[in-house]
Amino acid sequence: MSLLIKSGLVVTSTGSYKSDVFVKDGKIAEVGNSLSAEYEKIAEEVVDASGKYVLPGAIDPHTHIDMPFMGTKSTDDFLTGTVAAACGGITSLIDFEVLGKGVTIKSAIEAKKLLAEGKAVIDYGFHPCITEVNDTILEEIKDAIEVYGTPSFKLFMTYSFRADDYTLIKVLEKAKECGGLVQLHAENHSMMQIMHERFEKQGKLEPYYHAMSRPNIVEEEAIQRAIYFAEFTDSQLYIVHLSSMEGLNRIVQARAKGLRVYSETCPQYLLLEDSCYKKPNWEGAKYVMSPPLRTSESNEALWKGIASGDIQTIGSDHCPFNFHGMKHMFGNGDYKKIPNGAPGIETTLMLMHSEGVVKGGISLEKMVEVTSTNVARMFGIKNKGEIAVGKDADIVVFDPKQKFTISCKKLHMNVDYNPYEGMEVTGMPYMVFSRGKKVAQWNNDCVEFVGKAGAGKFMKRMPFEAF
Ligand code: URP
Ligand code: ZN
Ligand code: ZN
Repeated sequence: MSLLIKSGLVVTSTGSYKSDVFVKDGKIAEVGNSLSAEYEKIAEEVVDASGKYVLPGAIDPHTHIDMPFMGTKSTDDFLTGTVAAACGGITSLIDFEVLGKGVTIKSAIEAKKLLAEGKAVIDYGFHPCITEVNDTILEEIKDAIEVYGTPSFKLFMTYSFRADDYTLIKVLEKAKECGGLVQLHAENHSMMQIMHERFEKQGKLEPYYHAMSRPNIVEEEAIQRAIYFAEFTDSQLYIVHLSSMEGLNRIVQARAKGLRVYSETCPQYLLLEDSCYKKPNWEGAKYVMSPPLRTSESNEALWKGIASGDIQTIGSDHCPFNFHGMKHMFGNGDYKKIPNGAPGIETTLMLMHSEGVVKGGISLEKMVEVTSTNVARMFGIKNKGEIAVGKDADIVVFDPKQKFTISCKKLHMNVDYNPYEGMEVTGMPYMVFSRGKKVAQWNNDCVEFVGKAGAGKFMKRMPFEAF
């Protein structure tokens, strides 16, 4: 199978240049200026990318597909979720698997693989989520890193399956020893518990109080505490879905001290504000996610954190629940019952381009760095994340001028609303390739899926290397 993408602007994390790209057997075989003459006649497919960008496919490091949560289950399975990803220019993802009590990492990962196999249309990996420590789990962390290809572990400081400080310290220590990366959902559970009790007494139960019960200091305290633990264990730490300016400031200070503290934010924390929770008719529930949306002050600080390199990656935290029958019904009457999470896997790249690059907050190269190159480096995906010879041909030919009005009806995520409904973006995927095979293309007024169920493969990832 061969493919020639000619005359596009190849974008890397360090620079952009006009070039042709030749793909053979799923890999990038050549990148150069005058490949057309040699390959145009022999390539099975030729794509004219004049006026378009040639980007490494985005890698989403944070998704919750087919996940049981808060009395229900996220609505995308590995078919619908990865179809949506492909249509949004995401060519691989890493999903979370929360370990039940007494369950081994191996059996949890094998069970999750069964959900993905035969369905996923792009490549996928898994982060085991550790909820308890004992000798078996601590021993198994080494195998997870060295044998299973799952070298990153998420721990939660809240929810029913939260890990306590002891667990966190022990896992950080083990990860340091074996080359693992601990990812942390950082929110102080007790602080929000006290806020819940207060609001309960006052009868304040609408979606807005979801945000009010988790003020910025809830995230800031948890981040700072975890930073102390990372320092104490001399380990690496990655804060997921960073939402607040105060949390970012703690991370910036830690990095200035030379600590290996990394972070990820999500488009929703860059673009949406807590005023969304005030929408009438319980529609604020659509935005109930944890951590909650903040104010424009945090939005702006996070954009600056990306530009300065203190935030290294963008994840979607894709965790869709329908509004009708789920976010509305379960939560109607009490914000604490609303399933936490929102759809986002399909809109990450278009939003980062339109709201970040077009509006001037970040460069095109920075967009590629945080959506692809750094994600591959952070999570040990050696064969992806760059347009370079020898890498997998996970490529997005991106039309920077194509306008699109975000609408749940024109997107592929299996959910009945979109947090950005009606917003016009500039720049959309024109063609998307996964290991050289076309999986999505622009067609008239939206992106259509043209790939194959089950074509995605499990990515065995390598141990963490500091950068
Ligand atoms: O509200 C969210 N973020 N739901 C998904 C689970 C998590 O905390 O990442
Ligand atoms: Zn989380
Ligand atoms: Zn999440």
